[in-house]
Amino acid sequence: MAKYCILILSLLALSCSMAVAYEPSPLQDFCVADPANSARVNGLACLDAKLVNADHFSFSGLHAAGNTSNKFGSAVTPVTVAQLPGLNTLGISMVRIDYARWGVIPPHAHPRATEILTVLEGTVEAGFVTSNPDNRLISKVLKKGDVFVFPVGLIHFQRNVGHGSAVAVASLSSQNPGLVTASGAVFGSNPPVPADILSKAFQLDKSIVEHLQTVF
Ligand SMILES: *[C@@H]1O[C@H](CO)[C@@H](O)[C@H](O)[C@H]1NC(C)=O
Repeated sequence: MAKYCILILSLLALSCSMAVAYEPSPLQDFCVADPANSARVNGLACLDAKLVNADHFSFSGLHAAGNTSNKFGSAVTPVTVAQLPGLNTLGISMVRIDYARWGVIPPHAHPRATEILTVLEGTVEAGFVTSNPDNRLISKVLKKGDVFVFPVGLIHFQRNVGHGSAVAVASLSSQNPGLVTASGAVFGSNPPVPADILSKAFQLDKSIVEHLQTVF
């Protein structure tokens, strides 16, 4: 429990410091992302409006379930500016989330987005943890049609607590929300954070830290 709290504390400090970036307001109708343009702007450079068509504003495939055969028992299908170039500069994106039975979306934060989640099928426990010093867990079991919001930058998670698979969609207030997964960022960085730092920070034996570093 203590090590889990310290993990949350460390990641909150990280995510809060990054939560200062917000989406710029568009100064034109749209700015469809032009990935071929090498101009460096906050976001992506605009495609010539004369070359823009409806396909730049659409994405197909959210009807399809993601593959949840993985260690977390979940799958996220993103629709961010990377998949839908028309989202560039608009401050919005979405995801489909599939959960196998008891599947989890592990604790993570989006440095640039608030997330609003709607359960479409099944029963999902959702929660987030407030920043220091309270670190209060705010969580709820959601049924089909229920909506829950994860405030920008805070560590949050979900777990399928129903009898079958579950499906949700979520909207995020950024074209590029960013993702910091607590376990991966701490134990799976490249190059690794020195094990003695993590050993002290999480009050874990160094051999356990080294094991976790091989897992993530
Ligand atoms: C789902 O992922 C697993 C593990 O990567 C893979 O073995 C399996 O073939 C995938 N299933 C489908 C339907 O793609």
